[in-house]
Amino acid sequence: TNNPAVNPKQQVAEQAANMVENGMIVGLGTGSTANLFIDALAQRSRQEELQLRVVASSVISHNRAIKAGLSVLSINQLSGLDMYVDGADEVSDDLSLLKGRGQDLVKEKLLARHADQFVVLVDESKQVRQIGEKHPIPVEVAPDCWQLVQAALQQQGGQGSLRPNAAGDNVFYSADGNLVLDMTFTDITLKNLNQLLSTLPGVVEHGIFYLLASEVLIGKAQGVIRLTA
Ligand code: A5P
Repeated sequence: TNNPAVNPKQQVAEQAANMVENGMIVGLGTGSTANLFIDALAQRSRQEELQLRVVASSVISHNRAIKAGLSVLSINQLSGLDMYVDGADEVSDDLSLLKGRGQDLVKEKLLARHADQFVVLVDESKQVRQIGEKHPIPVEVAPDCWQLVQAALQQQGGQGSLRPNAAGDNVFYSADGNLVLDMTFTDITLKNLNQLLSTLPGVVEHGIFYLLASEVLIGKAQGVIRLTA
């Protein structure tokens, strides 16, 4: 696959679609790479007449899957999930991820956590030495709680504020109706930061995906690199 005309995100999307087995229930992530995966999976399912069911992390992925002809379950129908496939905003060599630049962090982590296999699809622009290197950590907070959560995080050396909406004239609301604090931290290990954010009252979810990914497919000009846990 040494073809410069091939989109790296398309390559990893197709490779992940080929990992799906007949009969599986597959979770669909959100974003441009997840979109390519949804289309590649639907195409393979049609060609090979697979019996697949999918579940979506967002309204946009849900709608895209239906349009592509996939059979979509709701999350509350699940008792388990064979595979979850999503993009990420940052990936480090130990397979830690940063996610949550979009609106759908809660369902993304829920599906990642419940999947037997969590496959992450990125291009090399997402590779970092350390999580948090390029983006602040999204911390989704219940609307009435943000000031106390912000104060608690400031006590741990965190700095940041509420995410504004795209127009910049209001706060941003997540798909689950929460606010998001975009926070940067120094002098705390990822493990400890994950622990802090996962146990702080008022935090609904946060963007560190620690020890969750089973593999990361990285699309590069020279082909796909596969990192496994
Ligand atoms: C959504 O909340 C994020 O976690 C996405 O997974 C991320 O933004 C990846 O998007 P792209 O595939 O479009 O880069």
